[in-house]
Amino acid sequence: MVGVAQLVEPQTVTLVVEGSSPFTHPIFDLSKTSYMTNAQSTTFPIVTHEAASLCADIKNLIDSGVYQITSQSDSPLFLSFNDGVLSIHLNTEEKRLKLTIDFVGGKSQHRRQYGGGKNQPLPKACGLYKHPEWTILDATAGLGRDAFVLASLGAKVTLCEQHPALYALLVDAMNRAVKDFDVNEIIKRMQCLHQDSISYLKKMDVSEQSCPDVVYLDPMYPDRKKSAKIKKDMQVLQSLVGHSVEEIRLFETALKVAKQRVVVKRPKSAPVLGANSPSYTVSSVNTRYDVYVI
Ligand SMILES: C[S@@+](CC[C@H](N)C(=O)[O-])C[C@H]1O[C@@H](n2cnc3c(N)ncnc32)[C@H](O)[C@@H]1O
Repeated sequence: MVGVAQLVEPQTVTLVVEGSSPFTHPIFDLSKTSYMTNAQSTTFPIVTHEAASLCADIKNLIDSGVYQITSQSDSPLFLSFNDGVLSIHLNTEEKRLKLTIDFVGGKSQHRRQYGGGKNQPLPKACGLYKHPEWTILDATAGLGRDAFVLASLGAKVTLCEQHPALYALLVDAMNRAVKDFDVNEIIKRMQCLHQDSISYLKKMDVSEQSCPDVVYLDPMYPDRKKSAKIKKDMQVLQSLVGHSVEEIRLFETALKVAKQRVVVKRPKSAPVLGANSPSYTVSSVNTRYDVYVI
């Protein structure tokens, strides 16, 4: 299943669905209180009485069997759509978590207004200061926070997210944000793909100008903190995605395709990804960005 949400005019997002092979996603296994991969279960419940108001991207994926509309769900993992906002819910014996992406208010607004501009470690590592024209592929889009920071500083960013629930949250948030006067221009610089980045990168012709200048990677890294201390959004990400086993393959593929650099976000004390040392590193308090210049 491959989809692309692209802003074609200020207030709409369209989705092109290619192929129909079942994808794999983690499913919560109550009996083991852990997550397992189940390639057969590809349908995510969306609990809503407002299905008609869902955006076109999500409606298309409902037609393709990725999501299923329901009036209630006893699944520990489901999406809800109420008052025009899509949320993800994780309900376990220990915790009940609800998460929504908001590119307009809250932390996004604070970082947009007071974040420190192109001198922040992330844009610096991506070369935005000297090369505002570079295109960026965020190959591990997640909740879109890093992509939004880069787009808010003027970069054109393609977001690639393989998880159907996270993809749905991203396109829903983009659809709401594109209607907002303050962030409309930023959102128009963002394009969201429902894809495995490795396949997406492998399909690119490396001789083509259209290859991204920068490929940015932020693979999940096992968090050693007790879960109560991990922020809610990270708990949801960890629960949904787990630890990526394909990150080295993604990194090596990115190195073959990026025109200028590959940037890898790591916890400060984590080992480098892959066998080679980075060209250089940009550090912040808890995080480092390893930059591999091509
Ligand atoms: C740690 S999160 C990224 C968080 C993100 N940087 C942010 O600012 O919200 C990693 C994400 O990468 C996605 N991911 C991992 N491997 C991927 C792949 N091969 N293709 C697409 N998405 C991938 C996971 O599903 C997960 O959502």
